[in-house]
Amino acid sequence: MRLDVLTLFPEMFSGYLSQSILNKSIERGLVEIHVHNMRDWSTDKHNKIDDRPFGGGPGMILMVEPVVNCVRDVQKMAPEPGTLILTTPQGQRLCQPMVEDLAIHQRFIVLCGRYEGFDQRVMDILQPMEVSIGDYILNGGEVASMVLIDSLVRMVPGVLGDELSNWDDSFSRGNRMLEYPQYTRPREFEGHEVPDVLLGGNHGAIEGWRKEQSLEKTKQRRSDLLDS
Ligand code: ADE
Repeated sequence: MRLDVLTLFPEMFSGYLSQSILNKSIERGLVEIHVHNMRDWSTDKHNKIDDRPFGGGPGMILMVEPVVNCVRDVQKMAPEPGTLILTTPQGQRLCQPMVEDLAIHQRFIVLCGRYEGFDQRVMDILQPMEVSIGDYILNGGEVASMVLIDSLVRMVPGVLGDELSNWDDSFSRGNRMLEYPQYTRPREFEGHEVPDVLLGGNHGAIEGWRKEQSLEKTKQRRSDLLDS
């Protein structure tokens, strides 16, 4: 999977990209991530990429020309232009089924919004898929892009050490249940004990207990998942 990120703050991605799962996937050639500074496409001698909104109002607007040029140039950097995604609070809400549908694709260009937004003609011309990570406002699309990238990358076969470990995660592949509780050593800590069933070695009983726990937790915390 190849991802190109277009941002005004490329340095925000360096820590994220060096974290272990991602870094290993990049080293193993499973994932390629390129971060581009949109400012490099400025057509202005002061490297400006934003301007005041026509009609007045607060904040600055990202200009159409540098953004469109940047996207078009980056599209040409690989054999296929890829799926263009814009992270914005006005987008479709990200959820696991959307991630699974998207992860079929091999290439993505992720456009991170900033300031008061983009000139509307960016969306009119490029027709990106607009994605929100939730009903709250972040300072920009960078953190949202990292959330999206993280969810996509773990769908790439081989990225997770244990091929099955994302298979039964909450929300995956139609699973609409929260995860059961897990324990490791010691068996007892400050009077809190590991449930006996997990120590007995009866796999059928363990599976039954886990299903029951999942259902109970989902009923208590996210009954909306059971309704749908
Ligand atoms: N940019 C600012 N807030 C955002 C959100 N909630 N989702 C995606 N992009 C954003």
